[in-house]
Amino acid sequence: MDKFVIRGGEPLLGTVRVSGAKNAALPCMAAALLTDQPVILENIPQVRDIQTTRNLLAAMGAEVELGYGRAQHRTTIHCATLPSPEASYELVKTMRSSTLVLGPLVARCGHARVSLPGGCAIGSRPIDLHIKGLESLGAKIVQEHGYVTASADRLQGAEIVFDKITVTGTEDLLMAATLAEGETILQNCAREPEVADLADLLNKMGAKIEGAGTPTIRVQGVAKLKGAKHRIIPDRIEAGTFLIAGALTGGDLNITNCDPAHLDAILSKLKQAGVKTKSTPDSVRVMGDNPFTASDLNTEEYPGFPTDMQAQFMALATQAEGTSIITENIFENRFMHVQELVRMGADIRVEGRTATIRGKSQLSSAAVMCSDLRASASLVLAAMVADGESILDRVYHMDRGYERIEEKLRGVGAQIRRMRNVFADRRELAAVEAH
Ligand code: EPZ
Repeated sequence: MDKFVIRGGEPLLGTVRVSGAKNAALPCMAAALLTDQPVILENIPQVRDIQTTRNLLAAMGAEVELGYGRAQHRTTIHCATLPSPEASYELVKTMRSSTLVLGPLVARCGHARVSLPGGCAIGSRPIDLHIKGLESLGAKIVQEHGYVTASADRLQGAEIVFDKITVTGTEDLLMAATLAEGETILQNCAREPEVADLADLLNKMGAKIEGAGTPTIRVQGVAKLKGAKHRIIPDRIEAGTFLIAGALTGGDLNITNCDPAHLDAILSKLKQAGVKTKSTPDSVRVMGDNPFTASDLNTEEYPGFPTDMQAQFMALATQAEGTSIITENIFENRFMHVQELVRMGADIRVEGRTATIRGKSQLSSAAVMCSDLRASASLVLAAMVADGESILDRVYHMDRGYERIEEKLRGVGAQIRRMRNVFADRRELAAVEAH
C-alpha cells in the first residue's frame, strides 16, 4: 500500500486550488438514478469514493461516462434502465455512503436491495433513520442476510421528523420524496451545504423542493424527473485542511475555487486561535506568522464546527500555547489520530469524547498509520511541522477524499512524496479497506 514520505519545516507559499466536494458529488451521482435521462455533473473530484460510486451505478446498469483531459472533472450518468437495483456488500463495505442509493432506487424502481453497512473506524454509524423514514413514506422493509430490501408500488408523501440530524439520511429521504405521491415535510434536517447542493440539482431535474439548507424541507412529489447539468460546490473540508496547512507551516497560502460562506465556523475558530485570514468571494488567504492560542472546540452539525475538521484542528492545537479541549459530539470513536500524534511528540489525553491537548509541543518525525480519511489529513499536517522525515502508511484512506493531495501540497512547497507499493495486491487492499 502506498505511503507518504514527508519532511517537515517548509512553509507553504503560493496558490492551491480546491476540488469539488466529495460529500456533494456522492449524493448528486445517486440522484441520477431517479431519471431515465442523462445527468451531467461538473467539478467532480477525482477521488476513490467517486470511482467506487461509478462502479456501483454501472453494476446496476447505468451508463457512466468519464470526462478526460480538460473534461476530467465531468461525468455523465445515464440510468435509462436499471435491471439490477442492488448495492452489493462488496461495494458497500468499501464505502458506506453507497447506502445513498436506497431511497432513489425504491422511488424509481419500486424496489431496492442494499447491503447494510458494517462497522466503521469512527463509529457504529447505523442507517436506522434512513429505513424509518422510508417506512413512513410507505415502503415495505425487510432486513435479512445483511441486506435491507425496500419495496413500494409508489411512495406516499408524509411528515417525517428525524430523531437525530443526519446528513445522508436527509439526502436519502429527500431524493425518495421527489417521486412520492403528494407532499413530504422533512423536519430536523441536516443543513449542510451539500444537502442544499443536492436539492439544487434535483430542482433542475424538475423536482419541487423548498427549504433545503434549513431544518424544514418541503417536497411536492412529481411523477417523473428529467436530466440536468449541474456544477458541484467546492469542498469546504479540503479548503479547511489547506487553511490549517498554511497556518501550521507559517506559510502564506491563497486557497482558490472555494466558497468562504461555507467556512464561517472554521474561519472564526482559526481567528480565535490567532490565525490571520483574508477572504474574497471565492478564495481565502491564510498567513501563518502569529503564535497560536489554545482554544476549545465542540464539533456540531452545520453551521457549527464540522466533525470532518476536528482531527486537522487538533494538529493545530498541538502547536498552540496553552491547553485546548476538543469535544467530539457527532461520532463516538473519532480520535484514532490521537495516538499517532502522541507518537510524534504531542501531549494529548482522551477521556470518552473529550481530548485535552497541551501545547506547544515540539513534534518529531515518526512512522505513523492512517486509520480514516480525516485522521490521515491531521497526520499529514503534523508531519509538515515535525522535525525530520515522517512515513505515513495506508494513505489510501486519504485518496478516498482528497484529490492528488501530495501534488497540490508539493505545488506550494511541501516536501512530500508518495511511495508506491506496486506489490500490494488488490485482494489484500480490498481486505484492508473493509475497515
Ligand atoms: C456525512 O456522513 C458525511 N459523509 C461524513 O463525512 C460526515 O462526517 C457526517 O455526515 C457528519 O457531518 C457523507 O456525506 C458521504 P450522519 P453521514 O448520518 O451522513 C447517527 C468524511 O470524512 N446516525 O450525519 O453518514 C450517526 O451514527 C465523512 O467525508 C444514526 O444514529 O453522517 C452519527 O452519530 C466521514 N442513525 C450521527 O447520526 C442514522 O440512520 C450523524 O451521522 C444515521 C445517522
